Amino acid sequence: MKDQAHTLRKIFEGTARPCPQVLSVTSGKGGVGKTSLVVNMSIILASRGKKVLVLDADLGLANIDVMLGLVPKFTIQHVLQGQCSLEEIVLDGPEGIKIIPASSGIQELADLTREQQLCLMNSMDYFEQDIDYMIIDTGAGISRNVMYFNAASQRVIVVATSEPTSITDAYALIKVLRKQYGVKRFDLIVNNVSTKVEGDQVARQLSLVCERFLGDVVLETLGSVPADKSIPECIKGQKAFVGVYPAGEASRRLERIVSRMEQTSRPSSNGSLQFFLRRMVLNQMKGSNHAGYSISRSY
Ligand SMILES: Nc1ncnc2c1ncn2[C@@H]1O[C@H](COP(=O)(O)OP(=O)(O)OP(=O)(O)O)[C@@H](O)[C@H]1O
Ligand SMILES: [Mg+2]
Repeated sequence: MKDQAHTLRKIFEGTARPCPQVLSVTSGKGGVGKTSLVVNMSIILASRGKKVLVLDADLGLANIDVMLGLVPKFTIQHVLQGQCSLEEIVLDGPEGIKIIPASSGIQELADLTREQQLCLMNSMDYFEQDIDYMIIDTGAGISRNVMYFNAASQRVIVVATSEPTSITDAYALIKVLRKQYGVKRFDLIVNNVSTKVEGDQVARQLSLVCERFLGDVVLETLGSVPADKSIPECIKGQKAFVGVYPAGEASRRLERIVSRMEQTSRPSSNGSLQFFLRRMVLNQMKGSNHAGYSISRSY
């Protein structure tokens, strides 16, 4: 059992770690570079001395473990079925990042029984002590599952490219999160751009539409990452591009994005992992009241 007095003492002495920041990286359209950005941003943060836990919450095929050449023996599905503990499924990635390969149990994660919620909250306690950031790689789109993760996070980082469908789908995602879940602040990364100006244009376009049609939504642009053929090459070689080409333009731009993210970090008073799970469960209850989503790209 945890010694509460000890924890309190640590807080008053100022030596306790601040609560972890929970960030989700998400997109309306698939294949825009979320997983690649999550992996590389996590490695940048870790190389700056931050403890990072990555939650792979994407049911898609290009999962984080595959991108890094890691082979999970178990996933969160086994934890939820009581076959092993959360600690046992965690994978060690580059620079000491930790990865929870959740993808194959993610459907269940959005639909937990009370017992499973409690079990997971207790296991999260284990990580609480030792992480600064939990970064969630969500699936693309506006399914309930994706929405729960986004709405429960402190910071929603939307990834878009300059393709018109990616921009309109990013807007549709922001609209659902604003209207159905009350999320008002978003961050934006524009990926795969041919010039910096192109990235700025996408950001401006999306900000204008949000301002015009959603009023109080704040969309903060973190920056853009250039289209770079070494990125798919690194993915094929199961390596992170920031590790292979640290001085390349894509790595340098992502370094700046991470710095900007750190400089604008949100207050973390409600950032514990247990809070994250509680918010997720609450959203789940809210979500079950909705008849379903019929969000179109229309404004
Ligand atoms: N900046 C970039 N320059 C060139 N190629 C890129 C860039 N970013 C991502 N890619 C390529 O785009 C493809 C999709 O990337 P990734 O799997 O990270 O996207 P995703 O958004 O996670 O996809 P999904 O929605 O399927 O989960 C990969 O093949 C990757 O190499
Ligand atoms: Mg992905």
